[in-house]
Amino acid sequence: MKILVTGGMGYIGSHTVIELINRGNEVIIADNLSNSKKSVLDIVEAITGKRPEFYEIDVADKAELEVIFKAHAIDAAIHFAGLKAVGESVSMPLEYYKNNIMSTIALLECMKAYGCKAFIFSSSATVYGDPAVLPITEDFPLSATNPYGATKLMIERILTDFQYANKDFSVTLLRYFNPIGAHPSGLIGEDPNGIPNNLVPLVIKAAKGERVLSVYGRDYSTPDGTGVRDYIHVCDLADGHIGALKNADKPGVYIYNLGTGNGFSVLEIINAFEQVNKVKVPYVFAERRPGDIAACYADCGKAEREIGFRASRGIEEMCRDAWNFAKSM
Ligand code: WQD
Repeated sequence: MKILVTGGMGYIGSHTVIELINRGNEVIIADNLSNSKKSVLDIVEAITGKRPEFYEIDVADKAELEVIFKAHAIDAAIHFAGLKAVGESVSMPLEYYKNNIMSTIALLECMKAYGCKAFIFSSSATVYGDPAVLPITEDFPLSATNPYGATKLMIERILTDFQYANKDFSVTLLRYFNPIGAHPSGLIGEDPNGIPNNLVPLVIKAAKGERVLSVYGRDYSTPDGTGVRDYIHVCDLADGHIGALKNADKPGVYIYNLGTGNGFSVLEIINAFEQVNKVKVPYVFAERRPGDIAACYADCGKAEREIGFRASRGIEEMCRDAWNFAKSM
C-alpha cells in the first residue's frame, strides 16, 4: 500500500514508518519538523534500505497538503502530526486547538477530494480522563482534563461524524498508553526538542548525571504510592498500526487500546531501568504534578481479537532499548 504518514519524522511516527517499509509498504511523510529532525530520514534509510519521500510542510495548510495528494495515489493516511505536551497545552490552548484540529480537517478534505478512504488516528489514553476502575476498555466514559486531551477527544468526534456522513470511509482510532523505548538498532528513539515532559527521557537524563529526577507524588492510592501507567514499547506500538491497516478496506469506525495490560509505578520503572542497564538513577520525591492521575492501564483484548495485535516486549526490553539509544545521543 502507499501510505501517507503525517508526523512521520517524530518518535512514534518514525518507528511506524520503519515497520511499514519493512512490511513492503511505500511511505510518504509530511512533517513540519517542529518536534523532530530531518536526519531521521537518513536513519530510516539506513535501517530499511528505503528512503521515504518527505514533504516538509504544515499539515494544517490544505494547499501544501494537496500537493501530496495530486502527486500520489494514497491508499491510507496515518495521522500523527500534532502538538502533544499536556502542560504546554494548558498555557497555549489556541495553538493546540488550531494546529491539531485544523491539520485533521485539512487531511480529511484532501482524502475526500482524492478518494483516499482509510484514516488511522494517533489518539491517546488521555481521553479516558481519570478512570473509576481498571483496566480500561474502549467503552469507558471519555473526558478531557487539559486542552491537549480535549483536542484528541474532538478529533475522535470529528472522525466519527465524518465517517457517519461518508459511509465508505474506514476510520481507526488508536488510543496509545505510554510509549517508551527505542528501535533495537539504537539508531533511532525518543529525541524530543527542548526539555522533555515524559518520565523515561527524564530518567535517562538522571542516569547521565544531567539532573536529578523528581518523582511527582508518593501518596497515590497505588502499591508503592507513585503513579502507575501502562508502558508500551514504541516498536509494539508500530506493530499496532500494521494491525490497524487490516481495517483499511472495511468501512466503519474502529477503536482500540494499544497498551500491554500491565501497570508499572514510577519506582518500578526506576528500579527496572537501574537493574537492566546497571546504572543509578538519582531521584527525589516531589509534590504531585497538577493534572496527573494515580493509575492507568489498558484492557487490550479488543485489539487482539479484531486486528491480532498483542504487545510482545516487556519492561526490561523497553528500558534496555531506551538506554541503548540514549547512550548514542
Ligand atoms: C508518567 C508517570 C508522572 C515525569 C502523558 C500524556 C499522554 C501521553 C503520554 C501523549 C506519571 C511520573 C513523570 C517526571 C514523574 N502523551 N513522572 N517525574 O503523564 O502518564 O502521559 O504522556 O500522547 O497523553 O498525558 O506520562 O511520562 O509524563 O508520566 O514522577 O519527571 O511518571 O507523575 O505518574 P503521562 P509521563
